[in-house]
Amino acid sequence: MRFLVTLSLLFSLSVIAQTAIAAIIEIPIETARTALVLRVNNEGHLVIVHHGKRLQRASEYSRLPGITYLSEGYSDFYNAAYTPAGSRSLLEPAIQATHADGNSSLDLVYVRHETKPAGQGQTLTTVLLKDPQYPFEVTLNFRAYQNEDVLESWSTIRHTEKKAVRLQKYASANLYLSAGTYFLTHYHGNWASEVRPEETQLTAGMKVLDSKLGTRAQMLQSPMFMLSLNQPAQEEQGEVLAGTLAWSGNFQFAFELDPYHNVRVLAGINPYASEYTLEPGRDFTTPALIYTFSTQGTGGASRSLHRWARNHRIPQGNGDRLTLLNNWEATQFDFDEPKLVDLFKDGKKLGVDLFLLDDGWFGNTFPRNNDRAGLGDWQENKAKLPHGLGYLVKEAEAAGVKFGIWIEPEMVNPKSDLYTKHPDWVIKLPNRENAVFRNQQVLDLSNPAVQEFVYGVVDGLFTKNPSLGYIKWDCNAVIYNAYSSVNPTSHLYVDYVRGLYKVLDRLRAKYPTVPMMLCSGGGARVDYGALKYFTEFWPSDNTSPSERIFIQYNYSMFFPAIATCNHVTNWSNVPIKFRTDVAMMGKLGYDLVVSHMKPDELTFSQQALKNYERLKPAIYHGDLYRLQSPYTHDVASMFYVSEKQDKAVLFSYLVNSRFKAGSDLPPIRLRGLQPEKRYTVQEINLMPGAKSPIDSTISYSGDFLMTVGLNPAVNDRRTSVVLEVTETGR
Ligand code: GLA
Repeated sequence: MRFLVTLSLLFSLSVIAQTAIAAIIEIPIETARTALVLRVNNEGHLVIVHHGKRLQRASEYSRLPGITYLSEGYSDFYNAAYTPAGSRSLLEPAIQATHADGNSSLDLVYVRHETKPAGQGQTLTTVLLKDPQYPFEVTLNFRAYQNEDVLESWSTIRHTEKKAVRLQKYASANLYLSAGTYFLTHYHGNWASEVRPEETQLTAGMKVLDSKLGTRAQMLQSPMFMLSLNQPAQEEQGEVLAGTLAWSGNFQFAFELDPYHNVRVLAGINPYASEYTLEPGRDFTTPALIYTFSTQGTGGASRSLHRWARNHRIPQGNGDRLTLLNNWEATQFDFDEPKLVDLFKDGKKLGVDLFLLDDGWFGNTFPRNNDRAGLGDWQENKAKLPHGLGYLVKEAEAAGVKFGIWIEPEMVNPKSDLYTKHPDWVIKLPNRENAVFRNQQVLDLSNPAVQEFVYGVVDGLFTKNPSLGYIKWDCNAVIYNAYSSVNPTSHLYVDYVRGLYKVLDRLRAKYPTVPMMLCSGGGARVDYGALKYFTEFWPSDNTSPSERIFIQYNYSMFFPAIATCNHVTNWSNVPIKFRTDVAMMGKLGYDLVVSHMKPDELTFSQQALKNYERLKPAIYHGDLYRLQSPYTHDVASMFYVSEKQDKAVLFSYLVNSRFKAGSDLPPIRLRGLQPEKRYTVQEINLMPGAKSPIDSTISYSGDFLMTVGLNPAVNDRRTSVVLEVTETGR
């Protein structure tokens, strides 16, 4: 009996002790509306006890159940905040390492944590974990952006073992959500058909999304996902986790359901062929997972990510952008100085800010007259441009437009002086036949000499032409035959991207404000690692507007309009109005022969550019409401509302060509306006002489427009309609 009392006393003491420990070491990482709550459990392991809406009383975090500990388990903690491999956990690990002595087990226990202010509206929480048996530690970093509800997670790994440690896996984030059912939307594609979404309910086991292309995260799979809890994703309601990895190389996302129907999310660099040897005393820092938890569906998630990107990531995210005329679709490689000078004048006539000279301006031993030669030889082609780039910059400026240029400095054609001179700078296997992608190969950016070369190419352009106004940075090949002649091959995929970022860091330090477009055989390279350096990106070579409505819609899930370059081209022969209206939902440009435009097309375009100038603040810096999806409606409708809610623009397109599609539809309810304010609605971007059925003299309350809505009158004669909504007072 006495024994039993003692036992029960001991038991209750241990419960108190446990509660006490739990109460003391609780780590809430909060933003204005969300919280990720970590806890140190009784064994000193760090677990996730909440990820979702922020609780109103922080004191109640201690009441969160500890969940999912199997005492005689098949595994350790399902909800570990950074799951180590090789010891008790038998789940998909966040980290896997082989110690200097050859032991491949890892245990990570809590040592200390700290939360401190880290810039405007930001806190940085760091949690130090250590292996009790080895001088091996991991710091988990969580940067919380208060107003944007965005978290950034990455880890730093270091050790002081006697020799190097081999890292087989090193995730950026290990998340854990509790809902029961999960619907994963992921994005895949190919050239000209980028970011096609697919939604699937997660089932037991693991779903892995990844890329092994080397030079870019995107193309076959995109480095982003939406995970909707309890229901398929909805645009304006429901809980959704949206995540994207800030890394321009191979990535891996794994979604694993545990036996309790909770989901584990592991995100980071793809461990494929990337075992990293970490020397004692050195840090290995992973890229960051950028993510937001929305209680307002995918729309809420996108608006948070857009705001975050503009405020904290993209250069001049709250600034302006240049409209431009590009010559790629118009001339391809076939141009000379007189032709270009005429195009400058055309650009001015149209009303754009800048002329962008595309591929084909360089190479002499191997002239760049097609995509089979010259890449790597960044000297002006003397036959096409006898007076050099300086002359073109001056002529463009004389015509009244700025001058920008296309480069692809990470790549080389085997037919080039560069390749002949530095074959060891090229990624290729010594004992295998050369494999090319678009007739070109990738330079080994893990090699400091190559980094210096690439930096020199861009720096040289600016040094010789200080008023150069824009760079389009392309990247058209993936890495085949991954082998570096100077580095351990298993470091190549990681060090390639790091080498690229080193070059871009140096360039941005010297040229902080020049606009730069990130391009890649279409749009297969956008991610928030690269968007630290680039003001904008090229979503797809496919500029056919009926396709673009979908492509832009999907990119808009993660990336803001200010960074999304859309050009009016001749890819399809739909009316210029339709093409222009679609291109306006982002950063507008042109890539067509202005002199081939009919007079009314030119007049329309000149007026559209003026309208764009007026609407830019709402499109660039406003909130996006995707009112009607092109996947579920005959009429797709996107609405951009300025920050002050005083100006908005509604774009609506007919996306179904079946009989009567689009006719007799109910009004579209607007969002994001002030209910008590009054607004007028005016149709703009009309072809010369066209009349609008929309009465611009009526003034509506925001309440009316959001409760009843309005009908843009889209039909098979009005396939695209742009409405400007302007606040007129109360
Ligand atoms: C890629 C780009 C195009 C164009 C060509 C030039 O395909 O996406 O816009 O710049 O390269 O070769």
